[in-house]
Order: sequence, then C-alpha cells, then structure tokens
Amino acid sequence: MFTRFGATRPLTRPLARSYTAFARPLPVSVRLARGIATSPPWGVNVTQPLGVNPSSPLGDGGPEDIPHHGINVDKPVRMDTAPAPEPGKDFDIVMIGAGNIMFGSDQGPWNHSFRLEHKLGPRLKVKALIDPNVARAKEILAKKCASFVEQAYKDTIVYKSLDEYAAALKAEGGAEPKAIIIGAPPAFRGGVSKGRNLEIDLIKFFPKVAYFIEKPVSAGPVAETWEVAEDLVKNNNIVSVGYMLRYLRCVQKMKQIIHENNLVVMATNARYSAAYESIDKLAWWDKSKDMGPVIEQGTHFCDLSRYFGGDVNMDSVVAHSVEWYEEPGKLSKIPVDESVIPKEDRIPRITGAVWKYDNGAVGSFTHTVALQGTAYACELEVWADGYHMRLVDPYNAPVLLIRRPGDDHEERYAFTDDDPFFSEISNFIDAIEDGPNPHILSSYVDATKTYELTWKIRTASEAARVTK
Ligand SMILES: NC(=O)c1ccc[n+]([C@@H]2O[C@H](COP(=O)([O-])OP(=O)(O)OC[C@H]3O[C@@H](n4cnc5c(N)ncnc54)[C@H](O)[C@@H]3O)[C@@H](O)[C@H]2O)c1
Repeated sequence: MFTRFGATRPLTRPLARSYTAFARPLPVSVRLARGIATSPPWGVNVTQPLGVNPSSPLGDGGPEDIPHHGINVDKPVRMDTAPAPEPGKDFDIVMIGAGNIMFGSDQGPWNHSFRLEHKLGPRLKVKALIDPNVARAKEILAKKCASFVEQAYKDTIVYKSLDEYAAALKAEGGAEPKAIIIGAPPAFRGGVSKGRNLEIDLIKFFPKVAYFIEKPVSAGPVAETWEVAEDLVKNNNIVSVGYMLRYLRCVQKMKQIIHENNLVVMATNARYSAAYESIDKLAWWDKSKDMGPVIEQGTHFCDLSRYFGGDVNMDSVVAHSVEWYEEPGKLSKIPVDESVIPKEDRIPRITGAVWKYDNGAVGSFTHTVALQGTAYACELEVWADGYHMRLVDPYNAPVLLIRRPGDDHEERYAFTDDDPFFSEISNFIDAIEDGPNPHILSSYVDATKTYELTWKIRTASEAARVTK
C-alpha cells in the first residue's frame, strides 16, 4: 500500500481518464493582447485576476481557454474501459530520469511508463532513457524487455545526459522524439545555471518537441524559474506539468458546479497530513535537500487551492510553524536518524498559512508531520455563497461532499476507478496528436505560481519562527 507522497502521494487503485483544458503557456502575442506581462520579474499580480476558473458547461467545451477550461465529468473514459490503443505510426518518446515517477515503486500509484504503454500500445517507442545512474536505467530496461512491452523498449539507448543524447542524435541524423517526459529531481530543473537548466537546454536542442515536466517545477530560486517560464512561453511548445490532482473527476465536478452556478469562491482550506512514520527518505527530512514538506509534498494541495481560488496575492501570505525544537514538535516515531541533519535544515512539524487571493477570497493551508502509520489524511474545502464543497481523501478514495442552498444535507459523489495519472498523460498525448478534445490543465506558468506560493509559505513561516 502507499506509504508516502514524500515524493508526493498515493492512491490505492488505478484511476481513469478524463478530459480537460488547454492551460498551455499562451503565445507572447496573446499575452500582450490580454495585458499579461511577458517579462520577468513576474509576480502574482502580473496575470489578470481569473476568478474561479470554472469548468466548461456540460458537453465539454473542448480546448477553451481559461476561465472556461475543465473536464466533463459526465463523460469519463476510465483507463480500464478506454479503447485498446490501435496500431499506427510510431510515437517516439524520450524519458529523462529512470526513477519512481517514471517506472513506479511500492510507494504509490505513480508510473508514467505504465500509462504511456496503455495510451500508446504498440506505437510507443522509447528512443532514449537519460539518467546519470546508468546502472539503474539499464536494470529498468532489462525488466521492461523481459515483459510484454518489450517492443517499446528493446531499442532504447541509455544516455548519461541530455547533451550526450542530443550529440548522438545529431551525429546519426536521427529524428526528434514527439515528446520528452521529465522525471529528474527538481534540483536539476527550473533554473538558469548549468546543471539546473534542463528546460533551457531542451529548448536549445528540441524547441518543437512537447515536454511533460514533473512537479515541483524546481528546487532553486523562484526568480530563475520565472525566467524559465518566460522562455517556455516564448518557445510556445506544448508543456504539461504533473499536478495530476487537477484531473480528478471529483475536482472537475467541483469546477463544474462552480461554473454552472456562476459561483465566486469565497475561501479555500486545504489540509495535508503526512504519515511521517512511513517516510524513511532522509532527504525529505532535510530542508537543504528536498526543500521541506510544503515545497516538495504540500505543493499538490497549494496547487489545488490555487486551481479554485485563482492567483494569490503573495504579499498577503502569513505563516507559522511548529519547529522540531518546540514542545509540540517532538515526534516519537521518526524513521530516520534526524540527528545527522544539521539543526537549521530540520523540517517543521506543522506549517499553517493564510493568504488573500487576488479576487479577495481567503486561502488557508495546513501541512502536518504528525500522523503515524501509513495512510495520509488530506482534505480540501471550498466555500461560495450557499455552497460548501469538501474533497476528502483524493489520493486513496476520492469523495466529494457538497452542501447546497435549499438543503442542509450533504450530497456525496464518489467516482470509482478514477486515474488522474492516466488522464494527464492521455490528454498530453492527445494534445500532441490533435486527438479528441485534449486538455492540459497545468501549464508551466501556472505551476510556477504554485512553486512561488510554496516558497512564500516556507519563508514566511521561517521569518515568524520563535528561535531556540
Ligand atoms: N506527481 C506525483 O505524484 C509524483 C510522484 C513521485 C514523484 N514525483 C516527482 O518526480 C520527480 C522525481 O521523483 P522520483 O520519486 O522519481 O525520484 P527518484 O529519486 O526515484 O528518481 C530520480 C531519477 O532521476 C535521476 N537523475 C538525477 N539527476 C538527473 C539528471 N540531471 N538528468 C536525468 N536524470 C537525473 C536519478 O539518478 C534518479 O534515477 C520529483 O520532482 C518528484 O516530486 C511526482
């Protein structure tokens, strides 16, 4: 079962496919036309307030721009009932990172290769797997080649770096891939200096290829990530970021209700409770490595909050923490030896933040390192006039509870076999192939806003600390 989402977090069963909207970076010309800033430094106030970003009405409006993007929850296509992929032209893919997000682990349901295999079937051809840990990459490929998906991986070449792959492709005059899936750690991405500038190198070598990039978009300075975002906007290729919870049918149902009832979100309240006893990755407990639990893990819920509340007024963010050295911060079942981590790099046990959205609504977020066992407890609440929507347990068994005007009882929605990982990959491929009604729900610019919010929460809570 799942243990951590320290990488992110878990679902207990396969999910399904749904439809969504284009949130890909807007062309510079469009941004200018809409009065959206195109050059850094980009703060949160540079985009026009978007209100609640409601979903499209029933019938799924197709690739409409915000605020009318959204999945049609009433026309789901589950992975297990999706039509079998048909033979056709090869779909060449390059994977960067041979780790858990790409090939799965026992820590959760993430596994992009699995979803790509189911989406593309015999057409999938993984041309290159790039990872400095060549042994790990080769081991993974050997397993794939010993299975029924051998055809997709039998000609995959392992490269240590993107430079090496690009040079080899140029030397042999080979064709570019159709998509590059990026699952390298965030420390190597979203920056502008050598070694952290993966996207800038990608634009240099493969400007027309579509990129799927994992969250968080970086681990480095936010200002640099905005520079990368601007470069990607200018480059104008298809980019999707892995905030897969946006694709959950419960989440899209909430969007639909907001849209159909013309609601204005008044407040969001997100709570993310990790089961710390099961998090045995030392880096997760070390702020200098994984950047702390809000940036690495809570990011999914900060992102979902923004998905409903819109842009955040960053200057309004206030936050407090319970630190490891405070009486309420003492934990009895930490599974790593925390004493080897420098004191200043140890993570907070509780982080609580409040902010204003640009439309005036209030957002709040609590991340806790308090639960033991293995199951996480996560909830998102959204309020609007007469409405209270409660998304419960989105990782394991998503349920949506809604109180509406005219009835004090809660309605309950539970969509079975909902796989947001498949939905995001499926829509990404459809967007590349002009497939039926594709939607990309998380653009790089939008994901950078989430990244900025999580840093703001971390720095605000650190500034407010009562030091030992
Ligand atoms: N959306 C989700 O639910 C979810 C789940 C898990 C992980 N993730 C994200 O995926 C990313 C990777 O996490 P993971 O759990 O797969 O980590 P991991 O440590 O299992 O794997 C990362 C791999 O990247 C390789 N690598 C390191 N530097 C590289 C570089 N410069 N170029 C190419 N490869 C490089 C490493 O050798 C390793 O094999 C993180 O950003 C994480 O937050 C997201």
